[in-house]
Amino acid sequence: MMKSTVSCTLSLLFLTILITLISFQVNGETKDIPNVESNKEVQEIGRDCIDQYNKKEVPRDPAKNLPLTFKQVVKASLETVLGFKKYTLKINSAFHNGTIVSIDFISAFYPDEKTGTCFLNVS
Ligand SMILES: *[C@@H]1O[C@H](CO)[C@@H](O)[C@H](O)[C@H]1NC(C)=O
Repeated sequence: MMKSTVSCTLSLLFLTILITLISFQVNGETKDIPNVESNKEVQEIGRDCIDQYNKKEVPRDPAKNLPLTFKQVVKASLETVLGFKKYTLKINSAFHNGTIVSIDFISAFYPDEKTGTCFLNVS
């Protein structure tokens, strides 16, 4: 009970820092990542972003947001903000009927390819 309260508080804190950094547009140096098609780490992060999209955005507005199948990250840049990694990704994915769509994400602060949080890039 105690442990889960602490970890919940920590995640909230982490999320708050993350949102603050994004909304205040704290800028580091942005670098385009070359050859993303063959970059395994970036492709895994892209796959995770589509997973998160299906879990988070689809239930939020099922009429508008249809579930997607990850295809490929086609463009990526990396900005390091106060030691955190902030990726901006363009991801191709497919509707159930095979139609490919391209979606922009800000995938913020991935310490590794398995844990991080993706946001739709609405700017
Ligand atoms: C596939 O589904 C999407 C989303 O509903 C739709 O926009 C698109 O027109 C469909 N494409 C075909 C070929 O049916």
